[in-house]
Amino acid sequence: MKKYPLTRRSFIKKTSAGLAGAALTAGVSSSLYGNIVKKSSALAILGGKPVREKRYTPPSWPIYDETDEKALIDVLKGGRWSEYNKTPSELTVQYEEKWAKANNVPYAFMTNAGTNALFTSLQVLDVGPGDEVITTTSTFIATINVIFDIHALPIFVNIDPETGLIDPDLVEEAITEDTKAIIPVHLGGFPCDIVKIMSIANKYNIPVVEDACQSHLAEVDGKKVGTFGATGCFSHQAGKPLICGEGGTLIGSDEELMRRCGAFINNGRDPQRKLRGSPYPGSNYRASAFQAAVLLSQFEHFVKQHETRTRNGQYIEEKLTEIPGIKKAKTYSENTKITHISLRLDYNKEYFKNVPASKFAEAVRAEGFPIISGGQIRPPYGEGMHKEAMVEEHLNSRPFQSSFSKARLRKYRESLQSLVVNRIEKERLSLRGKMGFLGTKKDMDDIIEAVQKVAENVDKLT
Ligand SMILES: Cc1ncc(COP(=O)(O)O)c(C=O)c1O
Repeated sequence: MKKYPLTRRSFIKKTSAGLAGAALTAGVSSSLYGNIVKKSSALAILGGKPVREKRYTPPSWPIYDETDEKALIDVLKGGRWSEYNKTPSELTVQYEEKWAKANNVPYAFMTNAGTNALFTSLQVLDVGPGDEVITTTSTFIATINVIFDIHALPIFVNIDPETGLIDPDLVEEAITEDTKAIIPVHLGGFPCDIVKIMSIANKYNIPVVEDACQSHLAEVDGKKVGTFGATGCFSHQAGKPLICGEGGTLIGSDEELMRRCGAFINNGRDPQRKLRGSPYPGSNYRASAFQAAVLLSQFEHFVKQHETRTRNGQYIEEKLTEIPGIKKAKTYSENTKITHISLRLDYNKEYFKNVPASKFAEAVRAEGFPIISGGQIRPPYGEGMHKEAMVEEHLNSRPFQSSFSKARLRKYRESLQSLVVNRIEKERLSLRGKMGFLGTKKDMDDIIEAVQKVAENVDKLT
């Protein structure tokens, strides 16, 4: 790897005024580094030689091999396409054991979608008409759909603008005597402030259903996300890190609660196979043996991919944050492990001659790395889910009209109108890691080199 002398140490040494004032706004200029700007470091975006002449092309997604093909064909030929007995030979059961172990919890149940892992949780926690469920407005619509589908009101909480994740302090403010559950969401591999949310929830004795659909194996203080609340829910839809096309998993530690969850997914059958018939309320949210077969074989790929992404993602983060003006994104605990399907880094343009992050990222892309983008930190889901037209449809539906008073619905509508998703005047660089971080150490070194090269030559972009 070529060395660009752009370390925090060299920056601080050469700017006696430290990181303040004029030196800071001067950013990274060639004069700071003497005559290191050679012909070979001319930026590719300005016609120079790129770090990678052949663009870095990460593997395409989904990734599969003959083990996945065999797993599918075995089910096809084996004839047992549907599984509901909960015997050890069932593929769903085998997968459930693996996912429970990976998360260090006693129970896991596979569902046919992450949405239905969430819905099952609310159902088993006895959430229903007239109740309120607190969640974030900045999430995928499925988090909200399950609340409306159970005929409870989603109480939309604003985001911490720095992370785009649910603001825990606003959770406490939103609690009323009708609050029956809280659904915090861990988005894009980044854990929300689950420790604080759990302490608030415990104080008021309100169950937490963690939506970890996008954040498989992320950790806070040595514990996996999805294992803090009463239940944790994952999606295995094709865009997620662990996939089988469509599918979900629900995990937890409370034996009775989880027994009921397992039963609800499977038409009320006792997952422990002790009680006969349908002793519990239930429906059919089972995954098929085809989904389980693919998930089982994908699990083996995922474990290796997760290791590679973590190693590469942490390496890139460590190296890029040595560049003055590039910082780690905020996390809520020092001891947070993100799932490196993406990596966000704060970008302070004052260190880069006021070149906006979008332009900086464009220059890195020109060096041969399409996995980077840059721009203003934005709420992850635009104006928020409370602005979706379906909200009004639900409020006008018979279940809502009969479960909530007119005054309550009026107040609710007013609260939606006044909710504006928080924004922040900050910029960031984002690296797409799901495929991007599956490369070799050399690939990662080249990405780092490209970012360093752009940082070093940023004055040419003004
Ligand atoms: C945050 C979040 N919650 C819930 C879901 C629902 O998962 P599924 O698509 O498997 O039903 C998703 C999936 O995209 C999600 O991103």
